[in-house]
Amino acid sequence: MSKLSKAKVQTAEPADGFSKSGFILSAIGSSVGLGNMWRFPYLTSGNGGAAFFLLFIICLLVIGLPLLLAELSIGRGGRGNAASSFQNLSGKKAWGLFGLISVFGSVIIMSFYGVVTGWTLYYTVRSFSGFLSRQTAYAETFRAFTGSGYGPVFWQLAAMALTCWVVARGISGGIEKFNKVLIPGLVVALLVLLVNGLTLSGAKEGIEYFLKPDFSKLTPESALLALGHAFFSLSLGMGTMVTYGAYVNKRQSLKTASFAVVGGDLLYALIAGLIIFPTSFTYGLQSEGGPGLVFIVLPAAFHAMPFGSVLGGLFFILLAIAALTSAVSMLEVPVAYAIEKWRWSRTKAAVLTTAVCVCLGIPAALSAEGPWKGYVWLGRTFFDWLDYSASNILLPFGGLLVTLFAGYVWKHAAEEAELRPLWGRIWRFVLRYLAPVVIVLIFLYSAGILKL
Ligand code: PHE
Repeated sequence: MSKLSKAKVQTAEPADGFSKSGFILSAIGSSVGLGNMWRFPYLTSGNGGAAFFLLFIICLLVIGLPLLLAELSIGRGGRGNAASSFQNLSGKKAWGLFGLISVFGSVIIMSFYGVVTGWTLYYTVRSFSGFLSRQTAYAETFRAFTGSGYGPVFWQLAAMALTCWVVARGISGGIEKFNKVLIPGLVVALLVLLVNGLTLSGAKEGIEYFLKPDFSKLTPESALLALGHAFFSLSLGMGTMVTYGAYVNKRQSLKTASFAVVGGDLLYALIAGLIIFPTSFTYGLQSEGGPGLVFIVLPAAFHAMPFGSVLGGLFFILLAIAALTSAVSMLEVPVAYAIEKWRWSRTKAAVLTTAVCVCLGIPAALSAEGPWKGYVWLGRTFFDWLDYSASNILLPFGGLLVTLFAGYVWKHAAEEAELRPLWGRIWRFVLRYLAPVVIVLIFLYSAGILKL
C-alpha cells in the first residue's frame, strides 16, 4: 500500500467528534484566554499602544491565519494526535517525533497556565464575596495570596480538577458542551463590561491611546513581540489546533473556522482593550502591566466604581471562563496522545496527565510570587522557566515544524484545506518562505542570538 493510500485509510470520521458550531466555539474558546486579557494589554501598553495593536492585527492575518489553517488541516488529514498526525501524513516516524515536542510543550504550558487559572478562580470567588467593596491594599492582597503557598496550590488543584473533569468526559460530551455553555456567557459578561468601560470618564483618553497609532513608538522588537503574541493567542505551535482538527468531519469548512477563530480572537482583544484602557485611564493606573494589571490594578479600579463588586466579579468570571476553555484544549493534547499511544481509557489518560501537570505546576505555583520565589536559576524562577521555555522556544519551534510540514512535506495540504489554486499558491508561499523566515527571526531574537 502506498504511503498516500495508507494516509487515506486513516481519514475515516472520528468516533467522538465536534458538531459544526461546537467546533467553532471550542476553537474560539481555545484561542481566547489569559493571552487576550492579561498578556495583550500589557504588551500593548509597553509597546506604543495603537501602533502595536495594528501590528498584531497584521501578524494575526498574514502569518497566524495561514498557520491556523495548516494546523487544522494536518489534524483532519492525519486523523491522529499532535504527533501521529504528522507521521500518518508523511509516512515517516521522524515527523511524529518532531510532533512530540508540541505534546511536551502543551504539558509545560498547562502546568503554569493551571496556576494562573487558579488565581482567576480565587479572585472570582473573592470578588463575589465582597472583597472588592472593602478598602484593601490590592497589591499586598495579591502578594499575600500568592505568597501563602497553600492558597495558590489549592486553587491550582481546583482549576486542574475542573479541566480534567471536562476533558475526561470526551469531545462531544465534555469539551464541546463546556464551550457551548461558557462562550456565550463570556460574550454577555464582555458586553456588560464594555458598555460600562465606554461610559467611564477616562473613556475618550483610553480609547485614543488604544486606537490612535503613534508609529514613532514602534521598534523592530515590537514587531517580533506582536508576532509571538499572535502565536500564543491563536494557540498555535503547541499541537492544540492539530488535535482539535482531528475531531472535525469533512463537511466542516476549515477556512470558515479559521476566519471565525481569527475574527473572534481579534474582536475579543479589541473589546478587552476597550474595557481595560478606559478603566485604567479613569483611575490613573495606566502605568501598570503584567500580572499586576489584572490582579492588582483592576480590583482597585472596580473598588472605586459604583456596583464595583458585581462588575469586578463579572470580570473575574470572564477571565476564569476564558482561561478554562483554553486549559481544556491544552490538556486534550497529551490526553489524545496517551489514548492513542498507550491505549489508555480517556479517564485514565485525563487523570494521569493532569497529575503530571499538577506535579510540575506545584513548584510553579510556589515560585510565582510565592515562598520559592527566591530560588532563581540563571535569572529565572521555576515559573519563569516554564513560561520562557514553552513560549519562546517550544512554541516557535512547533510553529516552524507546521509551516515546513504543510509547505514542503505534505503535498495534499491545499486539498485538505479546500483552497482554490490561486489561494493555494499564496498559502504555500506564506508557509514555505514568509512564515519560516519570520519565525526563525523571532526564535533567534528570543534566544538572545539576534539583537535589535
Ligand atoms: N490561546 C490561549 C490564550 O490566549 C493560550 C493557549 C496557548 C491555549 C496554547 C492553548 C494552547 O490564552
